Amino acid sequence: MTVHFIGAGPGAPDLLTLRGRELIAACPVCLYAGSLVPPQVLQYCPPGARLVDTAPLSLEDIIEEMRAAHAQGLDVARLHSGDLSVWSATGEQLSALRTLGIPYTITPGVPSFAAAAAALGCELTVPGQSQSVVLTRLQGRASPVPPSESLTAFARTGATLAIHLSVHALAQVVEQLTPLYGADCPVAVVWRASWPDEQVVRATLATVLEVAAGKGPPHTAIIFVGRNLDPALSGRSRLYASDYDRRHRRRVASSGLSDHSGQASGEGACASS
Ligand SMILES: C[S@@+](CC[C@H](N)C(=O)[O-])C[C@H]1O[C@@H](n2cnc3c(N)ncnc32)[C@H](O)[C@@H]1O
Repeated sequence: MTVHFIGAGPGAPDLLTLRGRELIAACPVCLYAGSLVPPQVLQYCPPGARLVDTAPLSLEDIIEEMRAAHAQGLDVARLHSGDLSVWSATGEQLSALRTLGIPYTITPGVPSFAAAAAALGCELTVPGQSQSVVLTRLQGRASPVPPSESLTAFARTGATLAIHLSVHALAQVVEQLTPLYGADCPVAVVWRASWPDEQVVRATLATVLEVAAGKGPPHTAIIFVGRNLDPALSGRSRLYASDYDRRHRRRVASSGLSDHSGQASGEGACASS
């Protein structure tokens, strides 16, 4: 018997990994974080599977479900939204399972920031511009953030910020970042990326409060802030330059041979649509 922790992706059921889907189909018990894992993902559970929404449960209740399945020799699919490596509360569950001697596996998922960037038509790193993306959040009721990881601390680096769990405090994001990034800095907010009711707004730090007012479900959104979100940026990486030697493609500039590298090289940042 094994508990399979599975990143269920950002919402669209076809953004599950193949491995995740196969594991879900093989497990007679499925524990899912119902606040963010949509019911459509549960269609892959086998008929008659025990389905438990863990949103209203405590950690102890969840571990008890796993322990009971273990006692019956039943494999468990444990679904969390996006990927498991960030804000999924898997750490405490894994620790409890280690204590109980219950085996587990971990299957990664498509993180919500990646789905949100896709909704924007956007590469978050832009050649010649910022080369870093910070996955972060504002402090929450249950989750303190160390002062060294404040938004202003990260903003001093000029990186693109992908701010989770904070759209309810958009005004605070604007207040903290405007002095460092400037009022004209691009901002994008993506609610429920990949869900049927996905919404996207583009604005600047000066305008985003007005533009985003009344949009989206209150809690499920990523706020991106950074110069890389400017659709007018047109950085180009050296990776696909025809005069650039790299391991898998020798330089062909003077040979007259086509290198088939096409136009796919880091051109531009966000699509402007
Ligand atoms: C508890 S965290 C889970 C993060 C998840 N583990 C991941 O890999 O993205 C929940 C936060 O992730 C973000 N989020 C999750 N799904 C999202 C989606 N489909 N679209 C936009 N943001 C999403 C929101 O910021 C939300 O408040």
